[in-house]
Amino acid sequence: MNTVAAYVRVQVQSNDNSIKVWDPVVRIGHWTLVLTFFTAYFTEDDFLTAHVWSGYVLGGVVLCRLVWGFFGTRYARFSGFVRSPVAALGYVTDLFRNRGQRYIGHNPAGGVMILVMLVFLAGTAVSGIVLYGMEDSAGPLASWVAPYAESEHLWEEIHEVFSNLTLLLVGLHIAGVLLSSYVHRENLVVAMMTGRKKSEGA
Ligand code: HEM
Repeated sequence: MNTVAAYVRVQVQSNDNSIKVWDPVVRIGHWTLVLTFFTAYFTEDDFLTAHVWSGYVLGGVVLCRLVWGFFGTRYARFSGFVRSPVAALGYVTDLFRNRGQRYIGHNPAGGVMILVMLVFLAGTAVSGIVLYGMEDSAGPLASWVAPYAESEHLWEEIHEVFSNLTLLLVGLHIAGVLLSSYVHRENLVVAMMTGRKKSEGA
């Protein structure tokens, strides 16, 4: 029975002309980031518990993604998609001319953006944890940072700047995904859900 199931799976994979690119860690991690970032962004002080827990989960996902970037599957590894800013710029220029090489994994511009987003997401989460410790004497850093509560306003600013810049990056990220999907005639959003992309043109 197992052999039949394996045979059918191989047939489906080779007949539908698609290959598996994004593993479950990447996909579940991605959509969890989307959910938690927007939940945290729109709750703030009004629903502090939801805000804080979304932030913790977001921070955990960022941490896992950083580790996965070194030990994960082929297309998830940083070594597979991190290229120079020059390559990223070249890709974007080509994209605006309605051409540009198609990549099975992340394209060079996506690669740079992903790294920058992960850094800003981490900055947002860490500054939030510091602020929570100073403002409410709560959270994992409370005992370390509570004595410095006088710099609470500074950390409030830092947390706000990080979260707003992250929102800006997310806007650029979504615009990039849509433009790239259009130029390559491939729905990258669906690919981030199913994990599969067309195999030709790699
Ligand atoms: C808070 C909002 C978002 C954040 C923080 C975010 C972050 C990321 C990150 C970190 C990756 C890399 C995935 C990985 O390799 O693990 C990624 C890829 C991707 N994201 Fe987002 N994302 C956000 C919103 C969205 C939305 C709303 C969409 C859909 C319109 C989207 C579509 C995609 C797609 C299609 C990719 C794969 C790009 C490619 O094919 O190279 N993202 N995103």
